[in-house]
Amino acid sequence: MKTRITELFGIEHPIIQGGMHYVGFAEMAAAVSNAGGLGIITGLTQKTPTDLANEIARCRAMTDKPFGVNLTFLPSVNQPDYPRYVRAIIEGGVKVVETAGNNPVAVLPFFKEAGVKVIHKCTSVRHSLKAQSIGCDAVSVDGFECGGHPGEDDVPNFILLPRAAEELDIPFVASGGMADGRSLIAALALGAEGINMGTRFIATKEAPVHEKVKQALIAASELDTRLVMRPLRNTERVLTNAAVERLLEKERALGADLQFEDIIAEVAGVYPRVMTDGDVDAGAWSCGMVAGLIHDIPTCKELIDRIMNQAEEIITERLGKMR
Ligand SMILES: Cc1cc2nc3c(=O)[nH]c(=O)nc-3n(C[C@H](O)[C@H](O)[C@H](O)COP(=O)(O)O)c2cc1C
Repeated sequence: MKTRITELFGIEHPIIQGGMHYVGFAEMAAAVSNAGGLGIITGLTQKTPTDLANEIARCRAMTDKPFGVNLTFLPSVNQPDYPRYVRAIIEGGVKVVETAGNNPVAVLPFFKEAGVKVIHKCTSVRHSLKAQSIGCDAVSVDGFECGGHPGEDDVPNFILLPRAAEELDIPFVASGGMADGRSLIAALALGAEGINMGTRFIATKEAPVHEKVKQALIAASELDTRLVMRPLRNTERVLTNAAVERLLEKERALGADLQFEDIIAEVAGVYPRVMTDGDVDAGAWSCGMVAGLIHDIPTCKELIDRIMNQAEEIITERLGKMR
């Protein structure tokens, strides 16, 4: 399938694997890229820029296809050394960067000069327009359904995507709730040029996370995510567990007085414990409502081939026969 996104990134299928903390290691990115999609290494999961440079080199040894790096701009106290992460990406010869969080304007000139394409993840039309105006090449439009940070506007993709299509000139992919060929066709119909998936890619054979995480996604339904940290205006969609319910109880009890320090036990340092150790109840970790559509653990190639075959079948069979 040829879309503005496959052309922009030089990939076979319009399917991107979004950056995921403690999931987006070289193994994950290479598996997606080898299957014809765009795999993405999560930059900040690498503790130092040198670690990121090594991770990029490891990925390059596993695939000769294009892959990207995610650079998330966090509202954190101890800011990562972003200029050195940017340098590691450029010197590593990576040609696609997925930015997320705050406005990436400060890093754009460096990427532009090095010929790196930038796709910025946005949760609203206004942020997408901003990304376009500062020179991003594409946006990933993340609807309310998404795993991770859906922003504070709560607009689901059935509205957000066609709104983005009404306003944007640069290409965009649909992110949040994407799982299969039906998602891809729906996204294309709503104006997107492809899809970005997070949660669905965790339940694959190559995802370098503990088996218990994959089983938790299979066991979860579309009713099992919760929104946490809303009072801090840092909303995150996570899979529910006892720690998450405890966190929500604190939010209810403290109301407007809630501080980040009050919930540190439920949110800090959770990812390695969940993804590496398999302690899925360790705290709050991102998960999309799309968990309800995850029923198996295919390889990335099986998943991507299945999406493309199902999309083709929908076009020729289901839609074709309606004419
Ligand atoms: C476990 C997990 C960790 C994530 N970590 C990040 C991250 O570090 N940076 C980022 O930009 N997005 C992150 N995301 C968001 C994904 O890149 C993607 O936008 C989102 O998962 C799309 O929604 P979906 O889960 O419904 O497919 C994360 C998502 C998940 C599920």
